[in-house]
Amino acid sequence: MENKNNLQVGVTDPDRELFDELIPLPEGTSYNSYLIIGENKTALIDTVDPKNGKELLENIESKLGKFGRKIDYIITNHAEQDHSGSIPLILENYPQSKIICSTKCKDMLLDLLEINEDRIKTVEDNEELDLGNKTLRFIYTPWVHWPETMSTYLIEDKILFSCDFFGSHTSRNDIASTSDVVLQAKRYYAQIMMPFGPAVKKNLNKLSDLDIEQISPSHGPSYNDPKNIINYYTQWSSGVTTNKVVIPYVTMHGSTEKIVNILKEELITRGIKVKMFNMSKTDIGDLAAELIDANTVILATPTVLGGAHPLAGYTAFLLNALRPKIKLIGVVGSYGWASMLNEQICKMICNIPAEILNPLLIKGIPKDRKLIAEFAETIIDKHKVI
Ligand code: FEO
Repeated sequence: MENKNNLQVGVTDPDRELFDELIPLPEGTSYNSYLIIGENKTALIDTVDPKNGKELLENIESKLGKFGRKIDYIITNHAEQDHSGSIPLILENYPQSKIICSTKCKDMLLDLLEINEDRIKTVEDNEELDLGNKTLRFIYTPWVHWPETMSTYLIEDKILFSCDFFGSHTSRNDIASTSDVVLQAKRYYAQIMMPFGPAVKKNLNKLSDLDIEQISPSHGPSYNDPKNIINYYTQWSSGVTTNKVVIPYVTMHGSTEKIVNILKEELITRGIKVKMFNMSKTDIGDLAAELIDANTVILATPTVLGGAHPLAGYTAFLLNALRPKIKLIGVVGSYGWASMLNEQICKMICNIPAEILNPLLIKGIPKDRKLIAEFAETIIDKHKVI
């Protein structure tokens, strides 16, 4: 998004399919980069993924050429390479430029990139930089996404450049409807921010005194109504869960699927919302978004060679990494002759401080609905006191 106060020189990446080789990107993504042109100095806020560096450079040249200016500062809010990876190219093309970053970020940049230490100037929390009629304030906002992250506030124009914070993976910067924005922002929150929920809350609190008229993240669209996305972030990071059960499942010959279908019916008829995800087909971004406010996760898997199906192991690892604020977790599944799957799964979810239900393991196909109904009843009883 471009307005009178900032010049977007970032790039879109509509064909990128995965982020971190893990997160599906149904709409691709964007790497936003902004030029701030003061009366005396020019700053570039964040760069782009290194594979798009040439395009960034062309965008900068096309905008800066009009003003006869060069880049003096590269404001680096975050060291991850999708934002820092083109810094070496900018440093090379603007030999007078300096990187401005947090103290932790400096060490990370030196680890991750081939850059000379004397090109980096660190700033403290709340330090300001005067560009001439444009003043940047650097606000440490750690753990959104890495420990070194900061946000940059353009005081005169009341714009917060938040990097990953409030971002969304989409290459459409012209998203028209609020629901579109929220859908992509929610997926992004679940995948990137949910593991750091307490840090998100602290940073929201820290920013609450700022007079913000626009939030411009480094992925996805800007927000001209910042209260809306801030309210969503407040809700998502609250840790408040709802009367919902999420069931990621794997099925090979249909037995486990029959179990979870019966379980779903038993739960729904008792007023519980259920979301099912077939892990051999699902987009894990959709799964992650449903985990934000779920009371319970039931992971369903058949046995393979005496243990959990590898896709169930993958799901357990994913849950353990995303750290949803669920209160209950349980394993159900179908086995043939032996099963260690509950023990295996429980070892993989050690980061989740949820109560673990006794497993529901059924030999072969489910012939007696009563066992599943009882399992559902246990969940319902526990939901009443969550
Ligand atoms: Fe968009 Fe944590 O990088």
